[in-house]
Amino acid sequence: MINKLPSNKSIELSDLPKHVAIIMDGNGRWAKKRFLPRVAGHKVGVGTVKTIVEISAELGVKALTLFAFSSENWQRPKKEVNTLMDLFVSSLKKEVKQLHKNGIKLQFIGDRSEFNPKLQARIAESEELTKDNEGLKLVIAANYGGKWDISQAVRKLAEQIQRGEIEPDAITSDTIQKYICLNDLPEPDFFIRTSGEHRISNFMIWQLAYTELYFTDTLWPDFDRAAYIEALQSFADRERRFGQTGEQLMKAQ
Ligand code: IPE
Ligand code: IPE
Ligand code: MG
Repeated sequence: MINKLPSNKSIELSDLPKHVAIIMDGNGRWAKKRFLPRVAGHKVGVGTVKTIVEISAELGVKALTLFAFSSENWQRPKKEVNTLMDLFVSSLKKEVKQLHKNGIKLQFIGDRSEFNPKLQARIAESEELTKDNEGLKLVIAANYGGKWDISQAVRKLAEQIQRGEIEPDAITSDTIQKYICLNDLPEPDFFIRTSGEHRISNFMIWQLAYTELYFTDTLWPDFDRAAYIEALQSFADRERRFGQTGEQLMKAQ
């Protein structure tokens, strides 16, 4: 039971999501409101990442996937992209030991081949260091796109067909699922997007098929413990029906 919630309510631990997926949005607007350069918002946003990772681990959420850089974000001004890359490298360098100490397993999804060699090396090192950890699975989606994810899965499946290992008729959603990123984790049951935008922006379009969606106007740098708990409380109050009726679910209980 999580007590001391902002609304004086409590959440049963069994009502917590197993896998939270977050689009961390609003860093630029947070900075703009303060007449600061956009990158100042990204720097403060790193602090929010730390807070949300800590709370997720503390509460016993099994997996947390954070959208850090989309395949479309390369189109931003070069200076902003470079600062974001530097921030990834420095944050990984600074935080990975502590994450490891806390039993967190780090994993990256996305096309990492487009990153500079230094960042690729840091990513590989952090995954290697934490690979046997059994605590929170922390997934960073970097140079990730939902359409890229489906394309890479289809490519692998096509190779299997070419080798004669599978007949096209035998392809089902389960066959495709095997190649989609994060098929080894529980599917995200809760999605959060900060900053007031109501869109998926090419995040995990396959994995979010039945996910509960939550949108908040809070900008990512302001998304604190209270805001996260409020979101989790909203999840706990929902009834997930997966196409069935409420009555059917009651009977099955
Ligand atoms: C999210 O904040 C961070 C990244 C996309 C890397 P934004 O930079 O998109 O902030 P806004 O949406 O412009 O406020
Ligand atoms: C989505 O945010 C990507 C990340 C948070 C990494 P964007 O700010 O890039 O999305 P759009 O452009 O507003 O849809
Ligand atoms: Mg944005």
